[in-house]
Amino acid sequence: MPLSPAQRLIAQNQSRFRIAVCGRRFGKTHIAIRELARHAAQPERTCWYIAPTYRQAKQIVWRKLKRRLQSINWVAKTNENDLELTLVNGSTISLKGADNYDSLRGVGLNLLVIDDSRRPRPVTMAPAIEPIPPITTTAKTTMIRFDPITAVT
Ligand SMILES: Nc1ncnc2c1ncn2[C@@H]1O[C@H](COP(=O)(O)OP(=O)(O)OP(=O)(O)O)[C@@H](O)[C@H]1O
Ligand SMILES: [Mg+2]
Repeated sequence: MPLSPAQRLIAQNQSRFRIAVCGRRFGKTHIAIRELARHAAQPERTCWYIAPTYRQAKQIVWRKLKRRLQSINWVAKTNENDLELTLVNGSTISLKGADNYDSLRGVGLNLLVIDDSRRPRPVTMAPAIEPIPPITTTAKTTMIRFDPITAVT
């Protein structure tokens, strides 16, 4: 599906940190899924998607992402318990919930997408994400962040 001009601006931006403040039904989750697929298309990438809650990640993104990648034969292994896809090229895409603070401990991440980051408690303080400069969580509009990061301890 072609992106809208505003979505294209986000997708084409080469910055290390991308913060988009968007309204309802902008297509934030759509572009989040697209970015996950685009980055995971490179071999051996570790990509995370964080929704405000684990349940939301499962309800909103899991089925869509899984179906999309399965339909193009990219998926080698599906872990339903951990909401994690391992792709044939060795990349992994994991879905997380900001409500499960302890799950936000990562090894080196190549891409981190935080969808609707206004709602969760400040996930920027989570152990895996600490190196990223905190952003305001008080904006009145919904936020999505794309933070490709190279080394997280
Ligand atoms: N570029 C696009 N082309 C076609 N359909 C799109 C595109 N972007 C989004 N959509 C569709 O628009 C609808 C809303 O998209 P999405 O759920 O990604 O928006 P959102 O901003 O995450 O919404 P919410 O505010 O509810 O979280 C979905 O049905 C999605 O498939
Ligand atoms: Mg959404």
